[in-house]
Amino acid sequence: MALVLYVENSLPALSKLHNSSAQFHFANHDLHLAQDWKKLGVAAVVWDAAVVMCMYLELGKVELKEKVAIELGAGTGLVGIVAALLGDITFSTFQGAKVTITDRQPALDFLSANVKANLPWDRQGSVVVSELTWADIVYLEDTFVPLLQTLEHLCSDTTVVLLACKIRYERDTNFLSMLKQQFKTEEVFYEKQRDIHIYKAWKLAVRRDL
Ligand SMILES: C[S@@+](CC[C@H](N)C(=O)[O-])C[C@H]1O[C@@H](n2cnc3c(N)ncnc32)[C@H](O)[C@@H]1O
Repeated sequence: MALVLYVENSLPALSKLHNSSAQFHFANHDLHLAQDWKKLGVAAVVWDAAVVMCMYLELGKVELKEKVAIELGAGTGLVGIVAALLGDITFSTFQGAKVTITDRQPALDFLSANVKANLPWDRQGSVVVSELTWADIVYLEDTFVPLLQTLEHLCSDTTVVLLACKIRYERDTNFLSMLKQQFKTEEVFYEKQRDIHIYKAWKLAVRRDL
């Protein structure tokens, strides 16, 4: 345990977390995400990983049209919103939600409000906000196993997993090593300014001869 005293808003990297909103332009839309660090902490601010994931999705290297997506640990929902906008749900045969945006229960009202405020009315039906808690605890290495089990459960042989993260601590590389035991994993994007890596992963083929 350590007690660290700091002056709120004194560091640029931290001050943006205390702003009541964050603005972006992705998928030809101006997006205004409400933030509330004091009320909900990490779940109610836009992190660099989400911003870089949106930059990657905009490159068009992952086909989103007519695809179904689920976002885990969505926070403000920026990535799911951009995925829904890029996915273009106007094709006629598709029924039901295209993007499911998930987080822990306490974050859901805030998340839903952001999703509603940032999607045009004719796209609202393409997104569902839903609770998905993969562990009762947060930010401990203990969550790695339940998170990987959740990915394993959600993925078919054709599912692509995209992961955006900083690599700061040994535990971050530990998670990647654990991921690589179940999923073929490759780094597909790196944004130097924010120091965020994007990894693409898909299930390792099951050995039919075993
Ligand atoms: C650092 S925030 C990132 C939010 C968002 N993805 C972004 O990059 O802006 C981590 C998010 O994961 C969610 N989270 C953490 N542990 C979780 C768990 N065990 N189950 C479900 N969600 C969890 C938190 O509520 C939070 O919204």
